[in-house]
Amino acid sequence: MAEKNVVWHAHKLTRQERAAIKGHQSCIIWFTGLSASGKSTVANELEYALNKKGMHTYIRDGDNIRHGLNKNIGFSAEDRKENIRRIGEVAKLFVDAGVLVITAFISPFKEDRDTVRGLVNAGEFIEVYAKCPISVCAERDPKGLYKKAMAGEIKEFTGISQPYEEPVNPELVVETDKLSVEECVDKVLAYLKSKDIIKG
Ligand SMILES: Nc1ncnc2c1ncn2[C@@H]1O[C@H](COP(=O)(O)OP(=O)(O)O)[C@@H](O)[C@H]1O
Ligand SMILES: [Mg+2]
Repeated sequence: MAEKNVVWHAHKLTRQERAAIKGHQSCIIWFTGLSASGKSTVANELEYALNKKGMHTYIRDGDNIRHGLNKNIGFSAEDRKENIRRIGEVAKLFVDAGVLVITAFISPFKEDRDTVRGLVNAGEFIEVYAKCPISVCAERDPKGLYKKAMAGEIKEFTGISQPYEEPVNPELVVETDKLSVEECVDKVLAYLKSKDIIKG
C-alpha cells in the first residue's frame, strides 16, 4: 500500500511527447505461450526488425529477469503471479519512457496477463499468443525441460504439471507450428502498422 504522505507528482511532459520524438508510439507487445512455443525466438527477431527500422525497443525475457530483479521468485502459482506483476510494472515504466517493450514470458494465468493489461491504457497492451501444440513443443524441447518434466524432475511445469490458460481474446495469434519465424514477425509488424503504433 502506498503511504498516505507519498503523493504522486504529475510531470509536465507526457508519454506521447516522449514517444513522438522517436516517430513511433510506445506499447507492450506481450508474448505468451507454452515453453518452447517460440516466444523468445519470435520476440528476438521482432526486436531486431524494429531496431533496424530505427525504432526504440527493449526486450524482457522469462529466464533473464529471474537472474536479477526476480531472482527471489519461484514457480508456484503465487510466485508466478508476483513475477508477472513486477514485469508488468517495469514494462509500464518503459511504456511511459516512450519505448516499444517486448516481453516473452510463459505467463500461464489469464488473470495475471489481465493485471498487466490493466496497468496501461487501452491499446497499449498487445497480447500475442505464440500458439503451438504441446506435442510439438515437447518435440522441439530446446532446453530439455519437457524431458525432465515428464520424468517428474521439474515440478510445476506449465502444460505438464501446471495449467496453461489460453488467451481468450488476444490481439494476435502466431501459430509457430504453421508459420515461419519471419511470417510470425511480419504478422506482428503488420498489426503495429494497422494500429499506427509504427509507421509503414
Ligand atoms: N515459427 C517458429 N517460431 C518460433 N520458434 C520456432 C518456429 N519454428 C521452429 N521454432 C523453434 O522452436 C523453438 C522455440 O524455442 P523458444 O523461442 O526458446 O521458445 P519459448 O521462448 O517459447 O520457450 C526454437 O528452437 C525455434 O528455433
Ligand atoms: Mg523463452
